Amino acid sequence: MKVCVIGSGYVGLVTGSCLAEIGHTVTCVDSNEQKIAMLQRGAVPIYEPGLEELVARNVAAGRLAFTGNITDGMAGAKVIFISVGTPPTPSGEADLSFVEAVSTTVAHGLKDYTVVAEKSTVPVRTGERIKQTITRNNVNNVEFDVVSNPEFLREGSAIEDFLAPDRIVIGVESERAEAIMRELYEPIIKRNSYEVPVIVTNVNSAELIKHASNSFLALKISYINAVAQVCELSGADIEKVAEGMGLDKRIGRSFLNAGAGFGGSCFPKDVAAFYQISKQLGYDFELLRHVLEINDCQKQMPVKKAKQALWVLKGKTVAVLGLAFKPNTDDIREAPAIHCIRALLAEGAAVKAFDPQAMARARALFPGIQYCADPYECVQDANAALVMTEWDDFKSLDFPRVKSLMKHPIIIDGRNMYKPEIMREMGFEYHSVGRR
Ligand code: NAD
Ligand code: UGA
Repeated sequence: MKVCVIGSGYVGLVTGSCLAEIGHTVTCVDSNEQKIAMLQRGAVPIYEPGLEELVARNVAAGRLAFTGNITDGMAGAKVIFISVGTPPTPSGEADLSFVEAVSTTVAHGLKDYTVVAEKSTVPVRTGERIKQTITRNNVNNVEFDVVSNPEFLREGSAIEDFLAPDRIVIGVESERAEAIMRELYEPIIKRNSYEVPVIVTNVNSAELIKHASNSFLALKISYINAVAQVCELSGADIEKVAEGMGLDKRIGRSFLNAGAGFGGSCFPKDVAAFYQISKQLGYDFELLRHVLEINDCQKQMPVKKAKQALWVLKGKTVAVLGLAFKPNTDDIREAPAIHCIRALLAEGAAVKAFDPQAMARARALFPGIQYCADPYECVQDANAALVMTEWDDFKSLDFPRVKSLMKHPIIIDGRNMYKPEIMREMGFEYHSVGRR
């Protein structure tokens, strides 16, 4: 099937290359000319395990191409995905101006019946607006359907998440659109040994499934982080508490890792947008506000602990290990590490940083801090080190070497990577989350 994916960011690239991998012919479009030029010469602008190879393989097979022109990309496409950004406005609402702009352009370019599928994460009832926009600008009066097909991939394991999903959600208004979407995903259903659940519902429910899922996962994280606070105050151990809770199948252990809070381009913005749309619809979803408040506190925690340990931060050198919002990505959007660096600089501390993938992106934000070649250079002469991302590289550090290099062996572990007893035995002053 011929498919057009508009917006070649994280989701657009993964969607496009995975759909090509399962046999469709895909054109990815982006308005960012630099990005398209890069993709056309075979370079992938983001770090995601396996993506570069996937893109190269499918370009070589003639199933994947890139263009800066939407009308060219749309030619012959049965399904057009909208996967542009939906960033937060200052109030927390989703900025839907990119979605609107694309809907208008798509309307002008329609030639034959087409399914226009939302891949971007959008507030409930956005599909109605897309339909209205396309109808208003549908100069050739071409038949079309708007579909909601939310994406649940995680950065760092995006390809596997796309090709072996927990579920496929399709929000449709017509049997014709449902049949096309089922045909599109049929190869995914066939290639997996388990039965991939396909949820077919109306557009509003599909949109809501996405916001409600992300917000629930964020809620789980804020919940465990709040419990971690009580652990610290009471002498309980959050790892044991999470294990004990997680063994209940109704609760589950995943997303109960206490730490420096959730970051990334999605949880913070999606919880805020879900709160805002609920309010606009007439429901004050206060619980979601608390989820964000707890997370804001949690992001401040490592610097608070550094201050407690060092007394005065001004003039001190702090090493920051990990800049990405999670391992296996170079994405630093809303990363807790970025928040901490800002706070450290505001206190007058000098910051040294290391991340296996995200330093180039961080450089654009903080050109003045020192970027290091490895974790050891990073901790050298530091008064304290903050561990902000649980990269595998940090799991097996040579701790005697770390200790000998640091000015003071103080580690603030924002991801509970190490065992407190062992760290103390090795002579570190060690602070983590929800554990003494
Ligand atoms: P992104 O910022 O990486 O990419 C968006 C792309 O859209 C950019 O390359 C931008 O240049 C392009 N764009 C903007 N306006 C355009 C236009 N008029 N025409 C063509 N291209 C245009 O964003 P992302 O992380 O890929 O997220 C996209 C959407 O998917 C968001 O709604 C996000 O919430 C959702 N989502 C993201 C993830 C994730 O892991 N990143 C997962 C699931 C859902
Ligand atoms: C998240 C969801 O997991 C995806 O299903 C969804 O598609 C995506 O958002 C999206 O809509 O963009 P992602 O942001 O890539 O994926 O990463 P997660 O693995 O969910 O982690 C998000 C943040 O939560 C990270 O900062 C991570 O460190 C933090 N986290 C996660 C915790 O602090 N504790 C946990 O137990 C789990």
